[in-house]
Amino acid sequence: MGLWDALLRDQYVGLAPWVWVQLESNQSPGPFPFVGGVAPEVVASLHEAHSLFLACVETAISDVFSRRATLGDPQTRVRMEDAYAELVNSRQQLSQHITARRQSDGQFLWAHPFDPTKSATVVNTGLRIFNAVKRQAIPVPFERPMGPLVGKLLGMLDGTQQAGAIRTIVTTAGREGERLLTKLMELFVQYECLTPTTQSSVRNQWLQQTKDRDTVHLGHAALLYRQRDHFLLFDPWLLPWFAESNVPSLWVSLLPKPAAIFLTHDHDDHVDPRTLLHVPKDVPIVIPSRRNRKKFYYDYLPLLRELGFSHIIELAHGESWNFDGGAVVSVPFYGEDPCDLEMPRNCYLVTDRGQNVLVHADSGPTNSGRSAIQEGVIQQLVQKYGPLSLVLASQQQLQEIRSYAAHAPLSHPGQWLDVGENGYLTNRYLDELCAIAQARLFVSYATGGADWYPDHLSFMFSQRNPARTALLTAHWEPPEKLKDLLAHHDCRYHRAQALDVFRSVGDGSVQVLSAAEVLTPLPLYRVDHGDPSFMTRGGR
Ligand SMILES: [Fe+2]
Repeated sequence: MGLWDALLRDQYVGLAPWVWVQLESNQSPGPFPFVGGVAPEVVASLHEAHSLFLACVETAISDVFSRRATLGDPQTRVRMEDAYAELVNSRQQLSQHITARRQSDGQFLWAHPFDPTKSATVVNTGLRIFNAVKRQAIPVPFERPMGPLVGKLLGMLDGTQQAGAIRTIVTTAGREGERLLTKLMELFVQYECLTPTTQSSVRNQWLQQTKDRDTVHLGHAALLYRQRDHFLLFDPWLLPWFAESNVPSLWVSLLPKPAAIFLTHDHDDHVDPRTLLHVPKDVPIVIPSRRNRKKFYYDYLPLLRELGFSHIIELAHGESWNFDGGAVVSVPFYGEDPCDLEMPRNCYLVTDRGQNVLVHADSGPTNSGRSAIQEGVIQQLVQKYGPLSLVLASQQQLQEIRSYAAHAPLSHPGQWLDVGENGYLTNRYLDELCAIAQARLFVSYATGGADWYPDHLSFMFSQRNPARTALLTAHWEPPEKLKDLLAHHDCRYHRAQALDVFRSVGDGSVQVLSAAEVLTPLPLYRVDHGDPSFMTRGGR
């Protein structure tokens, strides 16, 4: 029996939420995939110099811990710079890209060329299908680059499309495309990855359980804002079932199709290629704009095109993505930048018929004290749009030796022993933010908030590992103290859990409700599909 005989034309065909696909490349993505503004070969040299020098940096750190050196000794920096220059100048492959030398006036010169047209792109040469229930990983090589076509097909397999429409996508993909997509669909059938059903009611469930202008937390930094009968999705980092934990998770097919997706900044927990590969590709995706770049930028365009997106909107600070009754406004994002690369990043304001929600994400004061408060950004938003009744922000307080920050190789080696903020949001800063915003509810988010996230990451906190949380946050200000500060200006504090709903009420305050009972992943899946196959067969 052929593939299209096995799938009835009017059946809704989606991938089971415990099945996902990842694109793969047989070329090394290099040290900083998609970082733009500098040629990849220059980045490779900077990275190699940092790697080769790291043992020296660690010795310098050990000297401080063993109390043989003092913190802040200016000679340490001088010795570091000179040793780095010696290393670079002893290797032609490094010195051809990096200038490092002590000048006659005693100043240390460190430089490398920039090129605004260059970035480190990745082209995929295959994919792998993962089935977490069957514990299978099935590789499928490509004969030529096919990432965008795969992304388009996967976006159709969110459970909202009937077999007839999927067949059309496959059969109109060109000769090689049709061959690959047919093979992919056949593998999905062969390995029991599809969940055909006669109805598709996830969207209706969401419409019934939420109200116009609700903001729903989906876990970590993912938010869903309901705008009339549309849904706007922010920073989706969703997980397939059993990918990182043993609990069913919120995955793409359990959410309503968004009207638009908004990405705040270039961190893996905010730009997750696996999630983005599986979302529908006719959805516009809004990203920070290269017009806001200084030198470096994150080159979203080749990444998103490779995943199959074709409607990509760069929203520069101050610009709006308009909808009926309001807009999503791009707001400057500061900080979370230990090495001061100043890549373009966005916070977002959702201004909707007199209600304002600030998606502040991980933004905060920079190493030099610049922030949305200090530069008057929040004040201007309030002047223009009115009080920002709901503010969602990270509460992390990370400071780290720059040498260990992700982008350290791209920063001045003389500063590698300095400490940089990596999202340092003190109670005082957040209190001031909420006071100026005239917020009525502060929501602490983007540090976990669901059991399906990996629990080993330094920015992820949960009840599951209190000792680890205690170690990581031992020297942080107590988060509950912020609650007392906020109370002075009639603002409530809430720490977000997945499926919390934030809803404005008549007096200008914002209520916190939970949709965890009604939109929790397993019951939501059951509405259209009944018990998952692994439960009925006792398979897992
Ligand atoms: Fe971040």
